[in-house]
Amino acid sequence: MDAAVNITQEISAETVEMVREILRLKKEMNAVILAHYYQDAVIQDLADIRGDSFELSRRAREVDADVIVFAGVHFMAETAKILNPEKTVLLPDMNAGCSLAESAPSHLFRRYRQAHPDHLAVTYINCTAEVKGLSDIICTSSSAEAILSRLPMDVPVLFAPDKNLGHYVREKTGRDMLLWQGVCTVHEMFSERRIAELHAQHPDAELIAHPECEGVLLRKADFVGSTGALLRHVQESPAREFIVATESGILHEMKRVAPDKDYFAAPPDNGCACNICDYMKVNTVEKLYQCMKNGGPEITIADDLRLRALRPIERMLELANADAETAARIMDEITLPFAG
Ligand code: 13P
Ligand code: SF4
Repeated sequence: MDAAVNITQEISAETVEMVREILRLKKEMNAVILAHYYQDAVIQDLADIRGDSFELSRRAREVDADVIVFAGVHFMAETAKILNPEKTVLLPDMNAGCSLAESAPSHLFRRYRQAHPDHLAVTYINCTAEVKGLSDIICTSSSAEAILSRLPMDVPVLFAPDKNLGHYVREKTGRDMLLWQGVCTVHEMFSERRIAELHAQHPDAELIAHPECEGVLLRKADFVGSTGALLRHVQESPAREFIVATESGILHEMKRVAPDKDYFAAPPDNGCACNICDYMKVNTVEKLYQCMKNGGPEITIADDLRLRALRPIERMLELANADAETAARIMDEITLPFAG
């Protein structure tokens, strides 16, 4: 096996063989594998780049390869394709959807914008390319607060599709926004009662949570952040134990970056011990291997749609670290009222 790949758990002989083939195909195809932290642990281990949604978008723009194999959900692979029209983008399973993206069909989103034409649409990246094309600026959970704080306070904003992230950013920035009523079905499912029981067993543990969780949970959390921010936090915090309220795939990277600490997956409101995103987990090592062997499923986007979705994503990448002058220039190029 490639010396650079460190598979951190026991895997079957069959999986070892598939991993070998994936690494061989990667060279043959001049491909890179990008993986979100919610992917299966073996997929994370063999990926070239792991990241949260913002990091994966940023890195997708920079990769020097002919093929991007995206181990994540559909909207993430679609974003990579929007940023890299000349590259082949593969997704192991086209059914890797997202409840937030599904909550905002483009025809309803367009109608919502038409009903509030003077509002700037700042839209979470967890949405389809069509909805991105109807938006002014895209954001991720790690960039939402920075982006919204750089926009003039007198411009009314419509935020979609995640109402929990919207509420959280509304509190952080003091900006009153219209909120689309979508939710992430994974982050909505945490059980306050079961988390309190777990906390009683581990009283020194910090509760850390993703902003897609409900406000009642976020207000109790010691730290709130995107998956990337949660990873930085467990390395920097003096705490030794953490109750982690996000998809439990992240625990794999936490154990890798801060192995001397203990992590407990916050339990959901069902019988399960941890919270899993079924959309993320439709990707398997076998499907990753098959998609590289077959050269598909491949993400394709019509060029006019791609161009409509591109600028709102580029604005996100520019605004996340923008100075006042850049922010003003970006605002100047946005046309309101909405005429779509
Ligand atoms: P981030 O990767 O931006 O933290 O988002 C989490 C998520 O739910 C991705 O679908
Ligand atoms: Fe979508 Fe939630 Fe799954 Fe992320 S965790 S892909 S937001 S359903």
